[in-house]
Amino acid sequence: MYKIISNSLITDNVYKLEVEAPLIAHSIKPGEFIIIMVDSMSERIPMAVYDINGDNIIIVYSVSGASTYELKNAKSIHSLLGPLGNESKFTFDTELYQDKKVLLLVSGTGIAQVNRISKRLNELEIENDIYSVDKSIFNEISVVNTNNLSDLISKYDAVLTVGSFEFMEKVVEISNILNKEVRVSLSPLMLDGVGLCGSCRVLIDGEIKFACIDGPEFDGTKVDFETAKKRMELFKTEEGRRYLREVEGNTFTGGATNE
Ligand SMILES: Cc1cc2nc3c(=O)[nH]c(=O)nc-3n(C[C@H](O)[C@H](O)[C@H](O)COP(=O)(O)OP(=O)(O)OC[C@H]3O[C@@H](n4cnc5c(N)ncnc54)[C@H](O)[C@@H]3O)c2cc1C
Ligand code: FES
Repeated sequence: MYKIISNSLITDNVYKLEVEAPLIAHSIKPGEFIIIMVDSMSERIPMAVYDINGDNIIIVYSVSGASTYELKNAKSIHSLLGPLGNESKFTFDTELYQDKKVLLLVSGTGIAQVNRISKRLNELEIENDIYSVDKSIFNEISVVNTNNLSDLISKYDAVLTVGSFEFMEKVVEISNILNKEVRVSLSPLMLDGVGLCGSCRVLIDGEIKFACIDGPEFDGTKVDFETAKKRMELFKTEEGRRYLREVEGNTFTGGATNE
């Protein structure tokens, strides 16, 4: 059992959760993520760690369905799995970005994935800014109009974007035109988070990868967004999941999701 320190509404439907989890708090790197189970029978919820406060981790989440609704009402957390995935290239391959200006461009709760990356870049004295296309969850974050993305991106050397597939696809397209490096942190549906179920399968440069173990961050120019969007849709129905099982064979064993 993990003790909840606080779990409160910060803005329309978005909550900030602080949980005592010393092992994760002292080991999780920027870009990695965790999986939360509220109860022993609950669904597994993948989440970024927005921040660390001593022995506690801070999660910023929106309530979008049954599991996040359960999280909003939770009195304690049954299990936390993590750190999962890989550290962001921006904080790992630091020498590559030493003299570069990095843009962290998000929509919605994508802010949760980039906050610790920005903090680490600040420690490393790598210039970076966070912008959101949504009315920002936190007042201090700058907001950019989607019509002005091109102007904004042109001022930076490299971009990391987090949000819906549609949003990230658009950012990749603009960054490509402007010849800027662009990376994306993907959040496909995930079940086990350790590469076994195949739910988070994505095509990167034509090759099958699993966002939970190979990502979640990838070179944005290599991501097959069309397939990713189609899979997300198919996952919503039992018929769709049956189809995925048929066509993806032994790389897709996921199935018991939200129905
Ligand atoms: C690596 C990773 C990190 C994440 N970090 C955060 C975070 O910091 N904050 C946050 O609010 N959310 C985050 N998410 C998304 C979050 O896990 C989902 O919103 C949550 O699992 C939805 O569960 P639910 O049962 O409440 O909703 P469901 O009923 O499962 O889904 C409700 C709606 O949300 C969509 N949805 C479900 N799962 C995802 C997903 N993985 N990505 C995008 N849309 C989804 C569904 O298609 C549906 O339309 C992250 C996801 C991943 C994979
Ligand atoms: S969640 Fe990635 S393979 Fe299962």
